[in-house]
Amino acid sequence: MKRRDFINWVGLGGIASSLPVAICLQQRFAIAACSEQTTSDVWQTVGTVAELDQNGQLLVKKFPSVNVLLVGTSESENLIAVNPTCTHSGCTVTWNTEGNKFACPCHGAEYGSDGQVQRGPATEPLKTYTAKIENNSVLVKPN
Ligand code: FES
Repeated sequence: MKRRDFINWVGLGGIASSLPVAICLQQRFAIAACSEQTTSDVWQTVGTVAELDQNGQLLVKKFPSVNVLLVGTSESENLIAVNPTCTHSGCTVTWNTEGNKFACPCHGAEYGSDGQVQRGPATEPLKTYTAKIENNSVLVKPN
């Protein structure tokens, strides 16, 4: 590639890659619809109170790109919400009500209700989310 071709190529690439940002900045004040703020820092409805109360937990697949396991009911003081993907090797943990902990069926890792590791082989905590009930909806957002 010749030097001039390379400079033209980089210049066009730079313009093309900055267009979505420029459009997003212009729209941000008008309609607040930029993709960067749609999923990571806003409350998302993941189910209804009836769905949560039915089993005392609610597994939501693909929220927005990962799974979320909510534990509690509409009567609970605090709802627990975690990414149930075990940090050891990726199995899905389940909630153990009697033990008040998450347990992994694959290799026995256990996590507290705060997502912290209580028993290996996992060494990293589960990702946690903030959850609340508003009207008849269960809402979650990343911490
Ligand atoms: S995948 Fe959970 S303990 Fe190994």
